[in-house]
Amino acid sequence: MPATRLGIGPRLRYLGERARRIDVGSVITRGRESAQRHGKWTPAVVVDMLWQAGFHNVGFQDYADYDFAILTRAERATYMTHPVSNQLSQRFDHPDYRHLFHHKVEFNRTFSDHLQRAWMVVDETNAEEVRDFVTAQGTVVAKEPIGQAGTGVHRYHAADVEDWGDFHRGLLTRGEILLEEVIVQHPDLAAVCPGTVNTTRVTAFFDGEKTHILAIAQKFGRGAVSDQMSFGGFYTMLDDGGRADGPGYDSHENVHVTHPDTGFAIADFTLPMIDEVTAFVDRVARVVPQVQYVGWDIVVTPEGPVLVEGNWAAGVYENKPSVTGIRTGHKPRYRAAIGF
Ligand SMILES: Nc1ncnc2c1ncn2[C@@H]1O[C@H](COP(=O)(O)OP(=O)(O)O)[C@@H](O)[C@H]1O
Ligand SMILES: [Mg+2]
Repeated sequence: MPATRLGIGPRLRYLGERARRIDVGSVITRGRESAQRHGKWTPAVVVDMLWQAGFHNVGFQDYADYDFAILTRAERATYMTHPVSNQLSQRFDHPDYRHLFHHKVEFNRTFSDHLQRAWMVVDETNAEEVRDFVTAQGTVVAKEPIGQAGTGVHRYHAADVEDWGDFHRGLLTRGEILLEEVIVQHPDLAAVCPGTVNTTRVTAFFDGEKTHILAIAQKFGRGAVSDQMSFGGFYTMLDDGGRADGPGYDSHENVHVTHPDTGFAIADFTLPMIDEVTAFVDRVARVVPQVQYVGWDIVVTPEGPVLVEGNWAAGVYENKPSVTGIRTGHKPRYRAAIGF
């Protein structure tokens, strides 16, 4: 029996692609890690992982991240997974409009009313404008327009620049053509990690009339420009009131009861202005209604939420049972809202 009631066409295509891409080394490594972590027998975990991937739409990383090795069949069925999320993106994010999300400059143009910060695009002719912008800002975030698996974001300080001509050419050569003012986050977020702007990932579905909040994750950085895992970041899930479900974790087996740099107890975190966040997500979800299923990265500032980016092919952020003690995921919410 299929794990979801999505169309058979996309499902078969996805399974076909998966089989071609199957990486035996990676399934064994992840299987061994999961088995050791939970005191299970590695071969049994590897076979279970393959079975889950083949017949239940569970990615190997999903299996490891959400501790499937210790969950019952009924508990597993409550988890959102990356293959299911991919199918939802294919079905509910119209191909003609995806570029408005995929390309960060196009995104900023489309959502300019919701950014609440200065930004500019670097081109061959505007070295002076770049110098004026960076000098006025003091520090800027520079972005490569097409996502580089979370590594295309950089930070520059005007004080470090010796030659503005070189600086401008360097940005162009490296493709870092989007410059942004640094967002100032709410003090409650800065209390956990002041050196990184900590974003809230709100996964939402707009059904044409109503915006459904499917899941909320709070990411925390480690002082680098970005809060992504590639920069050492981690996350915890929030409830509808903005309260953390438990400690933080990432996809590399790290668990953070407290923030390693500030000592803030992650389970004690509450996102401020949760009602404003919900209303904000409803507003941005209506800007491009053809793209219905989106992972919104937002930042709560002292003046309210601002938009960082919208991910049309939204990744999955879920609860990790061994860390929170909660053994259910968010899939029932997705099913109720989207009707699959
Ligand atoms: N203007 C900004 N000011 C401060 N931090 C930012 C800004 N833009 C992005 N960031 C940080 O960088 C991270 C990644 O940025 P984002 O645009 O979402 O790119 P991606 O997720 O594709 O790497 C954000 O989650 C945030 O931590
Ligand atoms: Mg992002």
